[in-house]
Amino acid sequence: MIISSCGNSQDLAQSLARKLRAKYSPLTIGSFPDGEIYLKFKTSLKLKKVVLVQSFQPRPDMSLFDIIFAAETARDLGAKKIILVAPYLAYMRQDKRFNSGEAITSKIMAKLLNNSIDKIITIDPHLHRYKRLDNLFKIPAVKLTANNLIADYIKKKIKNPVIVGPDWESYQWAEVIARDIGAEATILSKTRFSSRKVKVKIVNSIPLKNRNVVIVDDIISTGHTIAEAAKKIKLRRANSITAIGVHGLLVEEAVTKLKLAGVDKIVTTNCIKHNTNEIDVNNLLVEELRKEKK
Ligand code: R5P
Repeated sequence: MIISSCGNSQDLAQSLARKLRAKYSPLTIGSFPDGEIYLKFKTSLKLKKVVLVQSFQPRPDMSLFDIIFAAETARDLGAKKIILVAPYLAYMRQDKRFNSGEAITSKIMAKLLNNSIDKIITIDPHLHRYKRLDNLFKIPAVKLTANNLIADYIKKKIKNPVIVGPDWESYQWAEVIARDIGAEATILSKTRFSSRKVKVKIVNSIPLKNRNVVIVDDIISTGHTIAEAAKKIKLRRANSITAIGVHGLLVEEAVTKLKLAGVDKIVTTNCIKHNTNEIDVNNLLVEELRKEKK
């Protein structure tokens, strides 16, 4: 087994290789003077299983492009199986045509991957209108979850927590984690007007005064969702607010926005490298990849 990476997830790829006692060989990716991609594997792939580790952030479009070129090259060089480990899989939120004429990018992304790789492993993909990954992928698609890791983090670090999911879809993280640690949970109601404008309402009123509130979501992108939730929670005079995201995209000054809204601490997993990473998904991926070593 050869573990490679196209650039975004080098730390993860390296530590996976170490833990699996597999060879780590990152790709050389650059560009020609006119901007065309240049890509090179530095080791023989003949008859090898090749694991490409690549989260789709930063630069989701280029990440997809790099993966397709890398996978096609690996196949051309004789690899026997190409597995994509994408701890964060982008495009999943565009799961329908919200306005006429729009691209359903999730379908296009899956079609490209279906053609170029043999298997995908990902962590907490944004499944909303698609209920399962095989609604989208024809190749074997494994969905792992960081729920247990997040639950362990909360158990260790936060006393007497209340778990809040900022929108309906977040029940699959917030409620499951709350049940696991035996905490109360509530799911808020969110209306999205655009990528940067959301409104969040507390619908099921549970006491938040003097409690340590933990908002859990799969993705923190611009931070608007959690910031709006935090403002409402702040008004109920919570003692502290922690925001936990599996995938910390944290674009467009999201960190500042969250702090200004009253979030005391932001915690993310290392699915995407960021200085808020406190939850390590390495072992989750190692366990899954071990099955490929047998
Ligand atoms: C969508 O429903 C996701 O679960 C997140 O709530 C959303 O992507 C967060 O985006 P933002 O941080 O830009 O509000």
